[in-house]
Order: sequence, then C-alpha cells, then structure tokens
Amino acid sequence: MLDKLKELEDEAKNKIEGVSDLEELKTLKVRYLGKKGELTRLLRSLGSVPAEDRPVIGKKANALREELERVIELREQSLQDEQRQEKWEKERIDVTLPGWPATVGQRHPLTMIIDEIKEIFTGLGFQLAYGPDIETDYYNFEALNIPADHPARDMQDSFYITDEFLLRTHTSPVQIRSMERQAPKLPVRIICLGKVYRRDDDATHSPMFHQCEGLVVDTDITFADLKGTLDLFAREMFGPEQRVRFRPSFFPFTEPSAEVDISCIMCSGKGCRTCSYTGWLEILGSGMVHPRVLEVSGYNPREVTGFAFGMGIERIAMLKYGIGDLRLFFSNDLRFLKQFS
Ligand code: PHE
Repeated sequence: MLDKLKELEDEAKNKIEGVSDLEELKTLKVRYLGKKGELTRLLRSLGSVPAEDRPVIGKKANALREELERVIELREQSLQDEQRQEKWEKERIDVTLPGWPATVGQRHPLTMIIDEIKEIFTGLGFQLAYGPDIETDYYNFEALNIPADHPARDMQDSFYITDEFLLRTHTSPVQIRSMERQAPKLPVRIICLGKVYRRDDDATHSPMFHQCEGLVVDTDITFADLKGTLDLFAREMFGPEQRVRFRPSFFPFTEPSAEVDISCIMCSGKGCRTCSYTGWLEILGSGMVHPRVLEVSGYNPREVTGFAFGMGIERIAMLKYGIGDLRLFFSNDLRFLKQFS
C-alpha cells in the first residue's frame, strides 16, 4: 500500500509538472483528488489493510492529498502567470512606434489660386463682391453696353434658361451690381471671384470656369492706375521678374480697352512653344470703364472715372503650375489633385 502511494505520488507530480495549460491541470486534479479520483479510491481500499497499519497509511495518504493540492495550486499559479505574460506580450503597446498618419485633405489648386488672388487684391484695399450665377440678360449684356444684336454676344454664347435669364458668361455683371449697390458713394474698389459659363468644351475651354473681376471707380482714376495695379498683381502672382504688356483691344463696356500679356513664365520672354515664340502670354482683358456703364449704374461720367479688368482663373493656374489640360481641374482625379500640397 505504501508503495502504491509512493507510485501515485511520483506519477501525479510528474504529470502535474508536465501540463501546459489550466484545462489540463483541472482534469488532473479531478483524476487524482476528485470524488472518484485515484487517491480517493486508494483510501477506500484501506479496509483491506491490516488494522494496525491503517493509522500510518491513512496519515500518509492525507499528507499526500495535501501535498498534491499544494503542488497543483503552485502549478496553477505559474500557469496563470505564464498566460498573463503571453497575453501581455501579444497585446502590449509599443509607445515608441510611429502612429498612423491621419489623412488630411488639401485645397483644390483652383481654390489655392483664388485665395492667392484674394490676398493680393484685398491687400491693395479691394473689397470682395459677389453676384448670382444665374443672371439676367440686362446685367450680363445690356447694362454692359452689349445690346441684343451686338456681335460681341457671339463670343460669349451661353446657356439660356429663358430669354431673360441665363448662366452668366463673365463676372462683369458684378461691376454693375456693385456700383448700383453703393452709388453715388466713392470709391468703388471691388474684386469678384466666381464661376462663369460658356458653350465651350476642349483642352483649354470648359463650359464652367472661373473668373476674377476687378473694378475701381473714383475721381481721377487713370489708365496709369490700371497699369500699376496689374503690374503689381503680375509680380505678386508670378514673381518679381514679371513684366506686363498692354495691347489695344475692344470690349463694349470699356473704352479704351486693352488686353494684358505677361512675359512668358516658361522662357522668361525669350520665346518657346508655350508662348508660340512671342515671349508673351495673354492673361486678361481690361480697360477704362465706359461712360455709358457708369451712367446706368448711378455714377456721373463727367465727375468720375474707373478701370476694370477680368481674368480667367484656370488660365492663371495652368500657367503657374504648368498644367496642359484644363479638364484636369474638374475630373476629380486624386493623382492630379494630390500634387498641389
Ligand atoms: N468680361 C470680359 C471677358 O470675359 C473681360 C473684361 C473684364 C474686359 C473687364 C474688360 C474689363 O472677356
């Protein structure tokens, strides 16, 4: 019987030492110490042992039970520690690892140019002005000295909603709206940046595009003010080396009128493919406000003068960033847009 106890002790300790998880340990506990366990069974067979030996064997058996309980508990603790350690290794956070960068959006290249233009002109004392995209024939043409049968309308074929309403073909109607709003107060000094619409669609024309309109009305405004303003704008926008050139032109709402070129930003005026070997790039239309336009807007053309200019914002962006196809601005291709951070 004593041998059996010894055998059971060795076997049990061996097994307990060898288990690798808590489930297995529980099974072993039941197997040796449970109600139907091996030690319990051995104790039950105590009846077959001579009476005088019983106390010794009984004592031994109880000692073994206690011993096994202790060993199991120790093993349980070390297994729990191991498990905890393992879990910690797996889940622990390395605070020195770099984090995931958050994806931050960015401004559209046209918005960047619009913001830059706003900054230049507000810095010169211009106020931001706005007008509706859906305009009346009166503001878009009539008040700008472009009567119904005027051939200048052909250059700005538009989207008509009714005979009276159309999508504005340029931002010039905001000239009239701004003057009407504050007449006869002086000075008028506004810029308007917004969408305009024409029936055009190719690599350099889009049915919707953006313009920036400028208007200054005051006493003693001369062509020199126009030249100085646009010269400064060109240098702020494209760099201090920029030169501007004024060419006589025609617009029904300015007199005299001029088209304005900047020295080619690709070749600095030497002549290249971008500027068709002229050294110059056209960027805007301008002129002195026509007396009739002042008059219909509430100003007396014998007392005040003014200048106005209008430029395409896409064109500025294409020149500044060297973009060949205007449609890229509106195709929402992230590979294109992400290049302007
Ligand atoms: N509105 C004209 C255009 O779209 C440009 C312009 C504006 C010309 C102001 C002169 C003065 O072509």
